[in-house]
Amino acid sequence: NQVREYEWIITDGEASPDGVRRPIMLINNQFPGPLIEMNEGDVLSVKLVNKASNATTMHWHGIFQNGTNWMDGAAGVTQCPIAPGQSYQYRFNVTSQSGTYFYHGHQGVQVLDGLVGPIVVHNHREAAKPYSSDRVILLQDWWYDPGSGLMRDVLSPGVEDAPIPNTALMNGVNRAVCSDHPERECTEVKAASLPHLDVASGERHRLRFINVGGFGWFQVAIDDHDDLQVVEVDGTIVEPTLSSPLIISPGQRYSAVLRADHDDGAFWLRARMITSCFAEQRLPENGIDEARAIIRYTNSLHSRHEDHDDAGTKDDHGRDENEDIILPQTTSGLPFLTSCRDLSSTTSFQPSPQQPAPQVADRSWYLRVNLAIGDWRLQRGVFNSSSFRPNLKYPSLHRVLDGLANNNESFAIDGVNKLAFDSESELTISNRKLETVDIILQNMDENSHPFHLHGTKIWVLGAGHGYFPGYEALGLQPEGKGLLDPVNKTVIRNPLRRDTITAEGFGWVLLRFIADNPGVWLFHCHAIWHSEAGMGMQFLSRIDDLRDLKVPEEARKLCEAPEEELRKGA
Ligand code: C2O
Ligand code: CU
Repeated sequence: NQVREYEWIITDGEASPDGVRRPIMLINNQFPGPLIEMNEGDVLSVKLVNKASNATTMHWHGIFQNGTNWMDGAAGVTQCPIAPGQSYQYRFNVTSQSGTYFYHGHQGVQVLDGLVGPIVVHNHREAAKPYSSDRVILLQDWWYDPGSGLMRDVLSPGVEDAPIPNTALMNGVNRAVCSDHPERECTEVKAASLPHLDVASGERHRLRFINVGGFGWFQVAIDDHDDLQVVEVDGTIVEPTLSSPLIISPGQRYSAVLRADHDDGAFWLRARMITSCFAEQRLPENGIDEARAIIRYTNSLHSRHEDHDDAGTKDDHGRDENEDIILPQTTSGLPFLTSCRDLSSTTSFQPSPQQPAPQVADRSWYLRVNLAIGDWRLQRGVFNSSSFRPNLKYPSLHRVLDGLANNNESFAIDGVNKLAFDSESELTISNRKLETVDIILQNMDENSHPFHLHGTKIWVLGAGHGYFPGYEALGLQPEGKGLLDPVNKTVIRNPLRRDTITAEGFGWVLLRFIADNPGVWLFHCHAIWHSEAGMGMQFLSRIDDLRDLKVPEEARKLCEAPEEELRKGA
C-alpha cells in the first residue's frame, strides 16, 4: 500500500473551456483538476493551499472516510472552511472500496467554479485489465457567470427559478460559436481540442463517466454503437448490463464498456443535458446542450495517413493537428427524454459479488422534501419542515465532540440541530450504535432530486411515482424476507448499492444503509442550487464511538479565522 501525496494550490483564475472566457478557480493552474489514481488500501494525502480569494474545502465524493469524518470536507458539518491564505492537510485511507469517484469543492457553489476532478480507485483483483484502455470522462453543466453571483440571484426575493446552464463540457471542453456571444470575450476552440478516443476494431474500452456538474442531467451514447455495457455504478461493480443511453444525474458515476464493433470510421460520443429535468425552464438563448468526444477507428486513420503519404506530403510530425481531425458525420440516436429518473429505475443492475441488504431495518424515517418559499420570501430547500444551513464557524462534528467531552449529550446531540437548521427540528438523525436505517424519501416537488449521502453506500430497495405505497404493498414479508420490485414484481435479492440516488418529481424512493461510520454525515440534494438553499440534513452515526475520534489540532485551527473570512464564497 502506498501513500499518494499531492500538494494543491487553489487560485483564482480565468479560463475559456468552450471559448467563452470566465473567472474560475484552479487547482495547480488546472481545470478540470488532476486525476487521482490509486489502489484500494492506499492513503490519499492532499495538502490544500488556499491562495484564492474565497474560503474553500474539498470533498471526496463517495469515499467512505471510515474513522476520518473530519477529512470529509463538508464545510460547516465536518470542518471549518480553509480561509484565504490558510492550508489544510487532507489525509485518509481508502479501504473497502474501489471504482470511480470524484472530488469537488464543498463550500458554497464552488463546484460550479472549477473545483472538480476525478478519482479512480483500482482494485488489485481487477489488475489484469480486460480493456484496451480505461479512461475518465467528466461531464458537467457550465455557466458563463461565476456561481456565487448566480446563487445570490437564486436566493433573492421572488425568484423561483434556478439558473439554467449555458452549455455542457466533456473533460472540460466544448466549442461555443463565438458569434453567438458578442457580449463576451470568446476565442473559437479548435476541433482538435475535443476529447478523442482511438479504437481498433474488436477492442473493448472502459469509459468512466462522472457527472461532476451542479444541476444538469446527462444522457450519454455513442452514435451507431448500441452496446454500451455498464460494469460499475457509483463504485459498485455490477454484472455487465447493456444500457444505452446512459442517464447520469449530478453526483453519479457509471463505467461502461465500449465494444468497438465497426471496421472503421469516426463517431460522436455525445453527452446531452436532459433539459426536461429543468422542469419548465429552457436553455438560455444560444445555449448548447450537448458536449462531444470523437471515437475514431484506427483502421481508418492508417488508411488516411497512407493516402497522405502518397500525396507526397511530409510525415505526421509538425502538422497542424487541426487539419488532421476528421469530424464524424454520424447522427444522434438519443431519444428526447421527458422524465428524469435514474437509469436503475428501468434497468436492473446486479452487484457482483452480491451485496445483499440487511433484511430488516432497525429504524425507518419518512422524509418529505420540497422547495419552498421561506420566511423572507427566499426560496428554500426543505427536509420535512427544516432547511439546512451549515455553521461555518462551529461545525457539527466539533460541537458533538465538545459536548461528549463535557458529558453534555444534549449540548452535543440536540445542539447540532439548533446549530445547523433554520427551524427547530429533529432532523439530525442520530444512532447510538451500529444500526440499519431506512429512508423513505417522498419528493413533494415537481423537480427530480439526486440525493447523496456522505460516508457510505445505500441500497436502493424501491422507487416509484406518487406516494410511497408502504412496506407491505412492496411485498416486504413480516419477517423481512426481501422486497418486491414494483416494476417487475420480482423480489429484489441483490439490490443495487450506490451513493447518489434520484427521487423523481412527485415520486418516492426506499433506501437502506448501515450507519457504521462514526461521525456526522451530510445527506443532501446534489443539485447545487437546491442544496445551497437548504435541501439537506445530517446523520449523526455511532455516537457511542465518536469519543474515540481524534480530530487533529490543525482541523480545529481552521476555525480560528474570523467568521467573515470563513464565510467568503459561501
Ligand atoms: Cu458530492 Cu456533499 O457532495
Ligand atoms: Cu434538488
